[in-house]
Amino acid sequence: VVRSVVRGTGSYLPARVLTNDELSEMVDTSDEWIVQRSGIRERHIAADGEYTSDLATSAARAALENAGVEAGEIDLIVLATATPDHTFPATAVTVQEQLGIEGGAAFDVQAVCSGFVYGLSTADAMLRAGHARKALVIGAETFSRILDWTDRATCVLFGDGAGAVVLEAVGQSGDKADRGILSARLRSDGRHLDKLYVDGGPSTTGTAGHLRMQGREVFRHAVGLVSDVIDGALEDAGVEAADIDWFVPHQANKRIIDATARKFGWPEEKVVVTVDKHGNTSAASIPLALDVAWRDGRIRPGQLVMLEAMGGGLTWGAALVRW
Ligand code: ACO
Repeated sequence: VVRSVVRGTGSYLPARVLTNDELSEMVDTSDEWIVQRSGIRERHIAADGEYTSDLATSAARAALENAGVEAGEIDLIVLATATPDHTFPATAVTVQEQLGIEGGAAFDVQAVCSGFVYGLSTADAMLRAGHARKALVIGAETFSRILDWTDRATCVLFGDGAGAVVLEAVGQSGDKADRGILSARLRSDGRHLDKLYVDGGPSTTGTAGHLRMQGREVFRHAVGLVSDVIDGALEDAGVEAADIDWFVPHQANKRIIDATARKFGWPEEKVVVTVDKHGNTSAASIPLALDVAWRDGRIRPGQLVMLEAMGGGLTWGAALVRW
């Protein structure tokens, strides 16, 4: 049996920090409203001329260094983003070039906020099938570029950033206690398109468009949908919820995170939360949170880590990793 083992993590946040107080000078809102409804206190915003590929490359370099892997050893790059540099080529291919990699394959995955879980599962399947040996899975976004900065209901919720993990295919005995990605469940349902989407695109308006969201509707579905795929990922791996060491959810909203953790009986000490400092960075939020918790020593080798996300589509998914 071959499993995809996490060798290292990395992340990158643009230097500019935008606080809730600054936002209240731009739209009719307040620090109190934003913190109470979302748990967000500040977010990072990419500089002019700083692109999704730049954020992704910085995160990838940090992950390679953390893993002790040379860029030239990477033969697969899967980059999850809803805010690519260009309509094409894929941002993953630009990152491949920036890292000086000339071999292997690189492509983007588009599942909005669920993108990292989709990308991780896709890379895992390719590694286990023998298509590649060492993969970079990156989540990178510049949502600041698709926000309507006059819409207070959405512009306060998102931020820019990137995170990455290095995966390596390792032959193992097949015992469920072994390390690596143990299970993943991916789902989507296009009937929910109008709840969270961007009102532009190359085939419709010919413009990049702006993010539109029915926040309350998204909220209403969130906990139930992600709970379903978490249950599935636990079942596929033969693991009980009580055995999970760390819950690393997509960082959209503190209230959704808390409600989901409560449902599975995971106490606050087992939940990695970065939404207060990063805002919702879409596909970047899970690898950013993983990098924080891996580098500060919370996540340790051998521990069980549950990842989960939901986003536009709707799309949702969960993955269980033994670190
Ligand atoms: N500041 C002050 N007031 C605001 C703001 C703001 N920034 N935004 C909206 N309001 C007002 C609304 O106008 C509304 O006023 P009204 O009652 O006079 O009409 C009131 O606040 C309540 O608005 P709701 O949208 O009902 O507020 P709610 O409690 O649902 O909180 C929120 C809004 C935070 C967006 C919540 O619905 C939520 O978190 N939804 C999930 C969104 C999410 O997580 N999306 C991302 C998931 S997928 C992905 O990551 C892409």
